[in-house]
Amino acid sequence: MGGTTEHAGNFVPVDERLVSFFVSLKKEKGRNFMSNIVQQDILLQLQQLQKDAQTALAQANTTEATREWYSEYLSRKGRLTGILRNLGSLSAEERPLIGKVANEVKAVLENALQERQTAIAQAELEAVRRAESVDITLPGRPQNLGKLHITTRALRDIYAIFTAMGFQIYDSPEVETDEYNFQLLNIPPGHPARDMWDTFYTTTPGLILRTHTSPGQIHAMREYTPEPIRVILPGKCYRYEAVDASHEFMFYQVEGLAVGKHITFSDLKGVLINFANQMYGEGRKARFRKSYFPFTEPSVEMDIDCVLCGGKGCPVCKFSGWLEMLGAGMVHPRVLQNGGYDPTEFSGFAFGMGPDRIALQKYGIDDIRYFFTNDARLFERV
Ligand code: PHE
Repeated sequence: MGGTTEHAGNFVPVDERLVSFFVSLKKEKGRNFMSNIVQQDILLQLQQLQKDAQTALAQANTTEATREWYSEYLSRKGRLTGILRNLGSLSAEERPLIGKVANEVKAVLENALQERQTAIAQAELEAVRRAESVDITLPGRPQNLGKLHITTRALRDIYAIFTAMGFQIYDSPEVETDEYNFQLLNIPPGHPARDMWDTFYTTTPGLILRTHTSPGQIHAMREYTPEPIRVILPGKCYRYEAVDASHEFMFYQVEGLAVGKHITFSDLKGVLINFANQMYGEGRKARFRKSYFPFTEPSVEMDIDCVLCGGKGCPVCKFSGWLEMLGAGMVHPRVLQNGGYDPTEFSGFAFGMGPDRIALQKYGIDDIRYFFTNDARLFERV
């Protein structure tokens, strides 16, 4: 490093003889000559310091490194101050020049430091940005959206269709008495039809889980008599049933009841054909087969042409081309009477359908047991 040691603080002219020479000169001819040489040397050192500092700064790549650089070159204990410590050996005339140059060097280095720090800060920010950036080309994670249960959907469709025809929704209890579930519906004790509606019995005699929504007819009639009635009665029913693909011990029904002074069988047909067309799509074929229920007279079962094969025959319709949709009939006079209506003045129709079964048919599901297990794949089908 030229003719000086590297650290200004330890500044020693290399040639000691030269120094003693200067010293002797000083003694003989006064101070000026020697101090002029020292001034030159300090200027050289300042120049060298600036160079060194700039090279070192170019290599400082972190904020931390620039701090260390500052403490080495510009701080109070740094090299610049170290050099200026030698000002004492200068004359009063020489000092201003050194001071000026030293200030220039300081300013240049401070500017350089500032620039470097800005550049480093920017680079660091850029690095953080790059590390935290979101890759918008990645495919998103699929979200599993919840869906309404298929039966709930079928129920809501049914409500919408019937309420549009002026029917109200009427709530009736799931736990019933033998009287309501059977006797008031014209099924006295010992009646053979009871076999079709065997149920679960509670430990309280006569208190049972209802086997159909039909007892709700009596509740509605007793509440509304003698007013005309148009209600649907949805809810769960229970049966003592061997469970298989098309039978559950618990299932839904929607009962319908209309009572008034001029209700006829054509009203029943009109309402139910309209319902079928709205539920399954326009142009449904419907047929009514004679049937038997103790609480209706006459009684029918209504079929529609199979929604899946269009009537050609398939496993769902058991190759008959028809799907059994519901049971219905004109309200039996004795039932009207039990509900508080005079059967010589009033007539009515009633029907009962299974929304679970309707949903099975509508969505082509082959096993009713899926409805009450918790396998969400069921809902992928609809
Ligand atoms: N309650 C009958 C059943 O459970 C259905 C039905 C309701 C039939 C109303 C006629 C009238 O099978």
